[in-house]
Amino acid sequence: MCGIVAYIGEQQAYPIILKGLKRLEYRGYDSAGVALINDKLSLYKKAGKVSNLEEFAKDKNLDSTIGIGHTRWATHGAPNDINAHPHRSGDNRLAIIHNGIIENYDALKKELISRGHHFESDTDTEVLIHLIEEIINKENVSLEEAVRYSLNEVVGAYAIVIIDKENPNKLIAARNSSPLVIGVGKDEFFVASDATPIIEYTKNVVYLDDEQVAIIEKGENIRIVDIANKKITPYIQELELNLEAIEKGGYEHFMLKEIYEQPQSIRASMLGRLNPITGDVTLGGIEEFELKFMNASRIIFVACGTSWHSALVGEYMIEDLARIPVEVEYASEFRYRNPILSEKDIVIAISQSGETADTLAALELAKEKGATIYGICNVVGSSIARATDAGSYTHAGPEIGVASTKAFTAQITILALMALTLAKKKGSITKTRHQELVNQLNDVPNLVEKVLESNEQIKYIADQYKDAHNFLYLGRGYNFPVALEGALKLKEISYIHAEGYPAAEMKHGPIALIDENMPVVAIATKIGNYHKVVSNIQEVRARNGNIIGIVTEGDETVKDMAEHVIEIPETDEFLDPLISVIPLQLLSYHIAVMRGCDVDQPRNLAKSVTVE
Ligand code: G6P
Repeated sequence: MCGIVAYIGEQQAYPIILKGLKRLEYRGYDSAGVALINDKLSLYKKAGKVSNLEEFAKDKNLDSTIGIGHTRWATHGAPNDINAHPHRSGDNRLAIIHNGIIENYDALKKELISRGHHFESDTDTEVLIHLIEEIINKENVSLEEAVRYSLNEVVGAYAIVIIDKENPNKLIAARNSSPLVIGVGKDEFFVASDATPIIEYTKNVVYLDDEQVAIIEKGENIRIVDIANKKITPYIQELELNLEAIEKGGYEHFMLKEIYEQPQSIRASMLGRLNPITGDVTLGGIEEFELKFMNASRIIFVACGTSWHSALVGEYMIEDLARIPVEVEYASEFRYRNPILSEKDIVIAISQSGETADTLAALELAKEKGATIYGICNVVGSSIARATDAGSYTHAGPEIGVASTKAFTAQITILALMALTLAKKKGSITKTRHQELVNQLNDVPNLVEKVLESNEQIKYIADQYKDAHNFLYLGRGYNFPVALEGALKLKEISYIHAEGYPAAEMKHGPIALIDENMPVVAIATKIGNYHKVVSNIQEVRARNGNIIGIVTEGDETVKDMAEHVIEIPETDEFLDPLISVIPLQLLSYHIAVMRGCDVDQPRNLAKSVTVE
């Protein structure tokens, strides 16, 4: 989490940094700050969103062609003005922005205090800049050398940029486990946590790798060394991102835009991979590792949050169709529980951002233990994508709303393609069933479009229940993970407590909560255990719960029992989650808007969780 931006060149740095910080606000919005070099090193920092910083800084001296900026998701130290980044060295010569955690900061801090350093903040970051200052003064080395030495002493994750009042033509950037990309313009450079602040200025970028330090000087080519001082040749690549993709395009919120983009993003996930005419499904990564997949004893998914829910859908799909045993693990648990892994296991990380620290660590553990590792990521060039042996991008386009929507359906689309590919290769599916599913998958974007037409009805239902204190979401089979996802969406953005449950498990606990104040969203489409879900709905009814049914078009049974029904078009149960989740996304969106919540940047959350 945390977003960092830096600029050096001929233009004014502040407006570029400010705009960049707004683009990166999805990474954290506890505080924001900038450091500029004019006649001195000027630091402006403010708790709260980037707009607070903008207001605070408007009458300050902002004249500078070099600067660094930061938007914070607090880890060490309260989210106040003092703990906001940038942080400076004791002699007020250097300033740093940092995304990550310096784990051994406490020991370093004690040591530095014993050498006479005084600290202003409670952050780990301030310790790092004092350490660099100490090394410059003690060892009499250049800034880049001092940064390199210091990084050999720290343990933890970092993407950092440092400026030096005495070298106003130079930025030093470095990374380890936190993302960092450098934009290469004409006589100017940009540094950021992702490419969104850079895209409107240049398409040429260099992704820094772990334990690398970049020396970026006005009028010079970038130099990169690793922390052992080995020279690295910068690899400049072209960005595929475009500006419209990261703007709201007339929608009130990114989340709504992203919900509405799903017909197109699902199509993009299938593009070049699904041929409905020939019935061919080709998923590059799988072809590459065909033998490994064919001989795999298990597939283990590791993921967090919404991506974990799509992994659950993937488990149902792959076991159902390809008959390969699948396990789904919370990455944060998996990485610390000494799991049994062998070379015949395939560990698949699912991550929208490709930067989630726990997922990345789980993957690294799996690699160490000899498993084949595979990634399903949305962000191209992200850390997980680069750490894996093979993988599939979801191609959903940038997702900016903190609550994930289109990334979820894109992940499920990839998992469907994966299940179909593996099933065909394993011979565990008939040709007719394969073709039938290919046809239906190809039609999913049209069905999603149809569901989106129910927006006004869903808005009406949202209005009826916006003041509820609790919600229960029920689903079975393929729709059990969707119930979890529906509840998560509501919690994340409206702050209403919600639980997702397998419908039949309700009677082992949550049923005790049901009374006339409890809205129960029951996903009761005509698939699998439909009749059993109907019985579960009866149980809720008998206890006066309020039922909102997600049902298949034309269903009359649930209509008679429920307060409201939202009809969705029929599809195969294998693909139902792609359709049934849409009304749940819209329901939580409207409830959150009606409650006056900050939909795109809900409190305490961040989109890219780069701390464990
Ligand atoms: C955060 C986000 C969630 C996301 C989760 C996993 O909690 O707020 O929306 O599902 O991280 O992120 P990933 O990028 O790994 O999918």
